Amino acid sequence: MAQGICDLDVPQVVQEGAKEAIENGQNIYTSAYGNLRLRKAIAKKQNDFYQQDVNEDNVLVSSGATGAFYAMAMSLLNEGDEVIIFEPYYGYHVSTLQSLGCKIKFIKTVPPSYAIDFEVLKSHITEETKALLICNPSNPSGKVYTKDELEKISEIINENDMLLFSDEMYEHFVYDDLEFNSALSIEGLKERTVVISGFSKIYSITGWRLGYAISEPEVIDAASAINDLVYVCPAAPLQHGVLKGLEELPKSYYENVAKEHQAKRDRFIKALNDVGLKAEYIKGAYYVLADISSLDGKDDKEKVISLLEKTGIAAVPARAFYHDSEGIDLARFCFSKTDAEIDLAIESLQKLL
Ligand SMILES: Cc1ncc(COP(=O)(O)O)c(C=O)c1O
Repeated sequence: MAQGICDLDVPQVVQEGAKEAIENGQNIYTSAYGNLRLRKAIAKKQNDFYQQDVNEDNVLVSSGATGAFYAMAMSLLNEGDEVIIFEPYYGYHVSTLQSLGCKIKFIKTVPPSYAIDFEVLKSHITEETKALLICNPSNPSGKVYTKDELEKISEIINENDMLLFSDEMYEHFVYDDLEFNSALSIEGLKERTVVISGFSKIYSITGWRLGYAISEPEVIDAASAINDLVYVCPAAPLQHGVLKGLEELPKSYYENVAKEHQAKRDRFIKALNDVGLKAEYIKGAYYVLADISSLDGKDDKEKVISLLEKTGIAAVPARAFYHDSEGIDLARFCFSKTDAEIDLAIESLQKLL
């Protein structure tokens, strides 16, 4: 239950699209921006789901959301720029920014709500602060940002001449009929936001490495040069696979993924609580941070190892999500697993009793 891979079947149309493309000779480089039809389809999806007004010029297809974030960050940030990140964070965000020499300012948010204290956020901003990065829904906390929170972020971003990176990778994994709000749906954020998302999770194709960024055309132009330099282009036939998925999968596909994951969430989080690993019914993404203080061991790492030895269940200790995790007895479990694997995990947890 450690790594964040998604255990759904790859949709048939996505598989067919890639196979047909290979057979039909779509095997050469595409544009460094990505396949034009795919960029149009991504823009259409964004507009259909969130009533935005983007077009292909706003879209860069890259080698996963990871590649899209790297290309955008390389284009927009310089060594020494400050970027604010909320903890718990997704490790690649921090590592990517560190690799560019950015200075990261961490702001801790706490369970159960992981609410943002806007006064604390303002107090961290200096002349050198270039950007704020949010993960919505959040890996690993499951926090889903409300429209009101995004409006407040918009005010702060505009008042301080900053940029917003909004990683919306788990946009379709939102539960309890909660509405997902994309940062680009907030009027004041339209010109200052880079949305990062991709297909790894929603089509269950983490190994295909296909993701994208949405932003202002001039930023996309700059990032396409980095995309060209580092990746040349995303895998050509696989772009046709996700294109077919975007063109042919109905909205109900995305709704069903959320429903299925909500059922997995309910079963697994109940089982965690039943054995004393206290956890909230998170609202988004497919991870849960559970309280592991009742496990044997002197710190989070020892505790997850003792869990692994006793039950065979692997989890990621808090230290992966905080720059200073001293005293934080949390571990992350991923519940995007087949029902049979969840059954087995629930049964194995009983060994803790
Ligand atoms: C928040 C978040 N963003 C991005 C990624 C990476 O996505 P990709 O596989 O498209 O690089 C992940 C994968 O775990 C993630 O959790």
